[in-house]
Amino acid sequence: MIRGVRDQAARAPHQSSPRLTVTFGFGPSLFGGRFGLAALRPSALAELPRFRGDRLEPGRSGGDVCVQACADDPDVAFDAIRTLAALGRGVVAPRWLQQGFRPEAEEGSRNLLGFRDGTNNLDASDEGLMAKHVWVGEDDEPEWMRNGTYMVVRRIRVRLEHWDSVSVTQQERAIGRRKRSGAPFGRRGETDPVDPARLPPDSHVALAGPASDEERILRRSYSFVDGLDSRFAEWDAGLFFICFQRDPRRQFVPIQRRLSENDRLSEYVVHTGSAIFAIPPGVQEGGYIGQTLFESL
Ligand code: HEM
Repeated sequence: MIRGVRDQAARAPHQSSPRLTVTFGFGPSLFGGRFGLAALRPSALAELPRFRGDRLEPGRSGGDVCVQACADDPDVAFDAIRTLAALGRGVVAPRWLQQGFRPEAEEGSRNLLGFRDGTNNLDASDEGLMAKHVWVGEDDEPEWMRNGTYMVVRRIRVRLEHWDSVSVTQQERAIGRRKRSGAPFGRRGETDPVDPARLPPDSHVALAGPASDEERILRRSYSFVDGLDSRFAEWDAGLFFICFQRDPRRQFVPIQRRLSENDRLSEYVVHTGSAIFAIPPGVQEGGYIGQTLFESL
């Protein structure tokens, strides 16, 4: 597939090493009966429930197929998307597009709120944790999803004008960590373990922290800035939240339910887009994307 992208690249050849990765996913609507795939729909690929405060826009949500292109250079990522869309013309049509950015170095990176993000994330280099919380296991159904994962996407607009107008103390109470050091309340260092007893009970970290060991997710979010919302002259900016997990019904959903009902951060954010996708296992040399799905037809 990537070879095809290069051959048909919409633009001139790029710099030597843009580190392009492309991830493909299948949404619940793909299994809705139009393509004879209904019997192969994973039960974990359930439509997400509605959460309190959701302001989801249909034009930024859902989709039969997802294509995520990541590269060092946004030009390269968009070129890949554009080329794939051109290859698929007549069969597939783009429904929505979201661009985002994140600092290259995980270390010390901050989101648009000015807080360290990713401190207590799942360690993606730990194969044991990935097998337990992210990859679909050998005993999980359906078989075609084994070694794949499920991706949840939320476009979360942050009311930055409001956020910027409150004190750092209020911001820290909303998150449950110190802004400068990243340390959790009652601790000194960023990586010190969170002490739930010291956190404001409605802080983001108190509520997002796993209620059980099963609930852990791998977060990989991007900041976005889509200019101004001209109706209110406010920034249309925030966090394009993405997480990966073995079963969103037992991982993302309970966390987001707690956040949407009680999180102090909710005062500053509004979810404007949402999607869920099954990410099939990686393509094998000489194979094709979604091979395990189509071979089980
Ligand atoms: C604009 C929206 C959001 C912002 C600005 C935000 C920001 C943060 C920050 C600053 C932290 C602390 C540092 C860290 O451990 O990474 C954090 C932790 C976390 N967030 Fe969010 N977050 C947002 C939305 C969400 C959503 C929608 C979820 C999942 C439903 C989520 C799940 C988590 C989890 C699981 C943690 C780690 C908690 C722990 O175990 O300590 N976040 N977030």
